[in-house]
Parts: sequence; structure tokens; C-alpha cells
Amino acid sequence: MSPFQSNIPSSEITPKEVFLSRRDVLKAAGFAGLGALLAACAPQAVSSSGAQAAPPDVPNSLEDISNYNNYYEFTVDKARVAPLAKDFTSRPWTVEVGGLVNNPKTYDVDELIKKFQPEERIYRLRCVEAWSMVIPWMGFPLAKLLAEVEPASDAKYVAFETIYDPDQMPGQKSPLFPWPYREGLRMDEAMNDLAILATGLYGDLLPNQNGAPIRLVVPWKYGFKSIKGIVRIELTNEEPATLWSSASPNEYGFYANVNPNVSHPRWSQASERRIGELTRRPTLMFNGYAEQVAHLYEGMDLAKNY
Ligand code: MTE
Repeated sequence: MSPFQSNIPSSEITPKEVFLSRRDVLKAAGFAGLGALLAACAPQAVSSSGAQAAPPDVPNSLEDISNYNNYYEFTVDKARVAPLAKDFTSRPWTVEVGGLVNNPKTYDVDELIKKFQPEERIYRLRCVEAWSMVIPWMGFPLAKLLAEVEPASDAKYVAFETIYDPDQMPGQKSPLFPWPYREGLRMDEAMNDLAILATGLYGDLLPNQNGAPIRLVVPWKYGFKSIKGIVRIELTNEEPATLWSSASPNEYGFYANVNPNVSHPRWSQASERRIGELTRRPTLMFNGYAEQVAHLYEGMDLAKNY
């Protein structure tokens, strides 16, 4: 059974219209609108009544998914990513796969999509800022791409890099971050079937603000590991540097596994705000994917390897 089937049964998938009507109910109940509801991204205190049971997961609406984004190459303002990314050109686009491999290759992204036939994977996305969504991605296992380039026996990590194009991405003119955005996985994490390269969502191509034309999705890790707009994948034998662990090493580690028991230095990770919901949910170990990934970390101190 695929992880997607075992985690979220199709009976729990709600059509887009139902979400839209749920928003109308919220509006009628006196909320100024979704914008106001989403405005505060900082975690809030857990009420004694909230965050106890884990209600079923249903996908967020396309509107939520494509209008509340983290993509610092454009802006740090979640609501302004979509308008700023509207004219981003994601074609032609190549993805170079090299480093410690026997068969390095450069792919045109449309060739990748044709070759690896994206399938739907409905995953929870848990941001390190303690909000979450459920997103119906279209993608293919990263492991399939890695198999094609034939990792060398000394390859231990996979490093990813976002396009560097300050003319199209105004946020990259900011000296506050060491551009381009970089991320990485250990080889066995990268080979796990849950790790996908996503090229679409809701059955369509990826919106620019969600990382078009191709991004990583690693659902058991905090969202910042799921790097957008990938142009380079390199296999290495050393743990790769990442943008967030370079910018703020005490707050963002290499592993970044979702873990309710290890607090961020500035807030608890014990619960989260699911976009579109009013009460908080408890955060699940490995974001609810422990069965598929906990074995990767046996014997590791997850508080040290945060
Ligand atoms: N990738 C790049 N290149 N730049 C970014 O700023 N933000 C990350 C991740 N990937 C980010 C990125 C963070 S913090 C999160 S939570 C997710 O993208 C958000 O993905 P979404 O906007 O598609 O929900």
C-alpha cells in the first residue's frame, strides 16, 4: 500500500467546494476574512481544551495552499508571495544531477515529468513556525531519479539548490540570507519512498509560489527542508551546508524532523495551527509518518540532532 493511501484515506478527502463553504461559515461567524485569520504566524498558547484529539486530515483548499506561502526569494510576507511570483518564468528549466554519481545528467524539467509520471501524494506539511496544511501534491519518488544517475558507493548525502535569479526574485537582493537557498538530506532519507520531487498540486502543474517547476517534499520534516525551484542536485560525502543552518545554526539544524518534544528555542513545537481551523492540533512525531521513517533515526539523539 502506498504511504499516501495508508495515511489519508480517500473517504477523508473533501472536495474544494466544501472548503469554500466552510470559509463562508467562518466569515458569517464574524471573521473579517481568511487574511485576518491567517495573519499571525507566531505560535499561540495551547488552550486546555484544544490540541487533545487528532481530528481527521482533509486537504486544504487550493486558495489556502497558493496564497499563504514561504518563499523568501520573493518576500518574507506570506500573503505577497503569490502576486510577486505571478510572472516568474519557469521554462525553459533544467535540473543538473551530479557529484558522486556514475551517470551524471542534466534534465529538462518537462522531460523529467514525462519520464517519471507524477502520481498524487496527499501529505501533511508542518512548518517550523507551527502552522500546517494538507496538500495534494503531484510528484514522483526522489529515489527514482537517484537510481537513474547511479550513486557512487561513497555518496552519503544529497544536496539541493534553488535557482539564483535576483532579477526575477527580488528577495535574493537581500543580503540577510546566504543565497541561493540550499537544503540537504542523508542518502537513506532521500531514498525513502515518502520523499518526492513535486511538480504539481491539485492535479495541475505547481503554482509559481509553491516552487514551480519542481521542488522537494519531505513530509516528516519541517517545511523548510522542502526546497523550491530546484536547479541542482549533488551527491556528496559530507553533510551539505543549508541556508537555514548557516543563517541561524542554533535554531535550524540539518535534520529538522518534526518533533513535538523538542522545542524551537523561541517556541514550543507541541502543537500546531492547521490553516483553516480554529483550535490547535497536537503535533505528531515525524509529522505522523513515524511508521515509515522512525527506523532511519534509531540510536540517534533527536534533541541533539535537531
Ligand atoms: N524553498 C525556497 N527556495 N525558499 C523558501 O523560502 N521556504 C520553505 C520551503 N521551501 C522556502 C522553500 C518553508 S519555510 C516552507 S514552510 C515551505 O517551503 C512552504 O511551502 P509552501 O509555500 O508551498 O506551503
